[in-house]
Amino acid sequence: MTAPVLVLVGPPGSGKTTVGRELAARLGVGFRDTDADIEALAGKPISEIFIDEGEPHFRELERAAVRDAATSHPGVLALGGGAVLAEATRAVLAGLPVVFLEVALADAVKRVGLDAPRPLLAVNPRASWRELMEARRPLYLEVATAVVATEGRSPEQVADAVLEAL
Ligand code: S3P
Repeated sequence: MTAPVLVLVGPPGSGKTTVGRELAARLGVGFRDTDADIEALAGKPISEIFIDEGEPHFRELERAAVRDAATSHPGVLALGGGAVLAEATRAVLAGLPVVFLEVALADAVKRVGLDAPRPLLAVNPRASWRELMEARRPLYLEVATAVVATEGRSPEQVADAVLEAL
């Protein structure tokens, strides 16, 4: 069993993937993203998994993807925004360095609007994001060993702050 050197959690639009890649490059380790793992395994985008099989099936795939990566990936690992909803996933993260990337609604909506489609934010991104964040904040805090604010910071500055926080 090999554990990640760092796990990034946070809501959609917090910059987990961008910052994760930057950190992996700086640390000279690999980067892995459970959303990408799930898409590779399913052979289709997450938006289509939600449409074809539904969210519960996606969450099952996500639990398995996190368990696998959290026990085999020796680099930086970014989790999908809803991964912390599963108790089994929170248990797998115990004892690992987990950084919660905090982001303000306005910044998140700016990034999410430009990025890959998020099925849970498709209808009303602002209201949906706020609801998700309210429900999940306690869970992000539960798994996090450090919290890093991203507001007004470039990905490079966030990466600096993550390394300082570790
Ligand atoms: C989700 C976030 C997405 C992706 C899926 C569900 C969520 O990942 O896993 O669309 O429940 O918040 P990002 O946080 O990388 O956008």
